[in-house]
Amino acid sequence: MKISPLSPIGIFDSGIGGLLIAKEIKIQMPNEDLIYFGDTKNMPYGEKSKEFIIKNSMKIASFLYEKKCKALVIACNSIASNALDLIQKKFHKKILIFNVIDPVVKNSIFLSFNKIGIIATPATIHSNCYIKKIKKYYHHLDVVQIATPLLAPIIENGLEMKKINPIIKNYLSHLKSIDAMLLACTHYLFLKQEIENFYHRKVHLIDIQKIVVQEIKEKLSEKKLLCFHPTWNRCPIFYTSSSIPIFFEKKVQILFGKKVFLKNTYF
Ligand code: DGL
Repeated sequence: MKISPLSPIGIFDSGIGGLLIAKEIKIQMPNEDLIYFGDTKNMPYGEKSKEFIIKNSMKIASFLYEKKCKALVIACNSIASNALDLIQKKFHKKILIFNVIDPVVKNSIFLSFNKIGIIATPATIHSNCYIKKIKKYYHHLDVVQIATPLLAPIIENGLEMKKINPIIKNYLSHLKSIDAMLLACTHYLFLKQEIENFYHRKVHLIDIQKIVVQEIKEKLSEKKLLCFHPTWNRCPIFYTSSSIPIFFEKKVQILFGKKVFLKNTYF
């Protein structure tokens, strides 16, 4: 399959979480053509087994590969922590593979901290992926992590903030006296404000979107695959695996405007 700078970037997550990574791609690389896939039928991935996550994420990766993407962005920590090796094994010779964990864990920002907190889905926490990877690069760091299983489903379903806030408070009360916080689930990026407020802005929130997308941009440029042609006439495409959820559609339109294609595909 022939890929070129004009080929799209494929991004996937279980639902709306990866939309913020897709948005950052559009901010840092406005000419890029995007195809997004949210596996809304199977959300939440955080409660699924490793086998399930591998099987489904392989299907999505193949779907995006068939759409002739030049790169795949795994915008889901639960997938990246459980299925990255296999996805890389199958596709790395064909297209570029990016994920939301590796660029973050090796980022030098960790040199500025002594103790960090991580919140993530049960699937990510049980993989122990973050602790293993961060400790490999930064031995000095004290890392405390907790699973926060209620958060991703309520964010996906658009529960009101006033109902989410007590849940956040309850979880974060287990993570006091930290210097920095890593939101290790892309859905939680929608809660940045609330989390900063909880810590009275005294805890540094690591800017995952920026770090991940900078890496994507650098690699695309290195491989001469960055798109310099304005592709304003090509609207981003958003696929879901169930009929398009109202809240998903709303979030897409808030972030990307009305000139988008929303489609569902049942595979
Ligand atoms: N957004 C996903 C993550 O980064 C998972 C949410 C879920 O489906 O549980 O882990």
